[in-house]
Amino acid sequence: MMFGAIQLGLMAACVVLFVPMGMAGWHLSRNKMLFFSGALFITLAVGVHLTPYFPSISDFASTVSSIVVFDNRDSCVSLLHEVVWDVKPHSANNSLDYGKSWRWSGSRPVVACGFQKLAPSDASDLLNGSWVVLAGDSQARLIALALLDLVLDPERMESVKVDLFKRHSNYHIAVDEIGMKLDFIWAPYVTNITDLVISFKRNRNYPDVLMMGSGLWHMLHFTNASDYGAGLRLLRSSVVSLLPISPELGEEGPVTGSVSVRSPHLFWMGIPTLINSMLNTEEKREKMTDTLRVAYDTALRRSKLLRQSGGPLLLLDIQSLSWNCGVRCTEDGMHYDGAVYEVALHIILNALLIESHQKL
Ligand SMILES: *[C@@H]1O[C@H](CO)[C@@H](O)[C@H](O)[C@H]1NC(C)=O
Ligand SMILES: *[C@@H]1O[C@H](CO)[C@@H](O)[C@H](O)[C@H]1NC(C)=O
Ligand SMILES: *[C@@H]1O[C@H](CO)[C@@H](O)[C@H](O)[C@H]1NC(C)=O
Ligand SMILES: *[C@@H]1O[C@H](CO)[C@@H](O)[C@H](O)[C@H]1NC(C)=O
Repeated sequence: MMFGAIQLGLMAACVVLFVPMGMAGWHLSRNKMLFFSGALFITLAVGVHLTPYFPSISDFASTVSSIVVFDNRDSCVSLLHEVVWDVKPHSANNSLDYGKSWRWSGSRPVVACGFQKLAPSDASDLLNGSWVVLAGDSQARLIALALLDLVLDPERMESVKVDLFKRHSNYHIAVDEIGMKLDFIWAPYVTNITDLVISFKRNRNYPDVLMMGSGLWHMLHFTNASDYGAGLRLLRSSVVSLLPISPELGEEGPVTGSVSVRSPHLFWMGIPTLINSMLNTEEKREKMTDTLRVAYDTALRRSKLLRQSGGPLLLLDIQSLSWNCGVRCTEDGMHYDGAVYEVALHIILNALLIESHQKL
């Protein structure tokens, strides 16, 4: 019995030793990755079962479990929103300015995932050669702003801001240095987003990263959660019919850049926390109530658009990010401080890293 345990322990030791070395050195294909995940899971199970017999295994087990978390893409994706804020008044003066900083939580599983705020050069590498599309309302525009703010130099940002914030219009920019194209598509309603998805399909031209989100306009002008839900279900079926992508794109992924073009990376930007008393018109305060907000959330969940309910889109939970930043991070109870969208951006970038099996 003990002999068997030691052999298994040695096997576990080998896996623990070689897997991280391997992962550091190789760009693993999906199959290799799955193999390693499986191997680690078996090792973990062995470790856990041997712990009572073999005290030093308990050290192993904890090492292994942190690697498993690191390697387990789904569980890391589910931890991406574990962000803590530090919002406090500037001590130098008595103004109403607040310093806002954020970081990922220090809890063990989050640390094990190794999330990081990407430096401009890393973000540029990751997005090199990619076509990024953001479709939606002002929330999508603010995420586009955060992305361009990260990869462009400050002088260029001045003119970008002017064009990007032209009311209710689309915006296109090609960042030649990194071969990245970005489009912001003004799409205040879900139907507008569905039309866009259908046009990608018709033209057989798909972005590498597609972030979508809408709801605020519908809340204000239709105020009907079941109608919103019906729109989301239509969107879901047009997104699903977009996948998997036609064979012309080939199997080999991107020509340049790191984000795979095999299948677009799809995100849904959720509705932010609405602070009713701060909304800037009487009509908004009357219609955009907490009750309606909850009904819109329920409609989103039931539409099965999101991955957590078996759908194709990864949720950017702007609600929880804005809620955690808090009332000091908004002036109109709806649009939040740039820091909130910066977090959303870094969540997207880390999700892209995880999905394209890379570590920096
Ligand atoms: C207050 O101080 C901070 C730095 O401590 C500065 O960024 C901010 O502009 C100041 N606000 C005013 C109104 O002077
Ligand atoms: C982007 O990729 C191209 C081709 O691989 C390369 O020549 C260029 O240096 C890259 N640019 C950046 C900023 O990484
Ligand atoms: C978005 O959809 C609405 C309602 O279906 C339509 O009236 C509007 O023209 C569309 N807007 C854009 C920018 O396509
Ligand atoms: C809400 O939308 C649904 C579906 O579009 C419609 O059948 C229903 O009559 C609408 N409800 C109200 C109160 O307008």
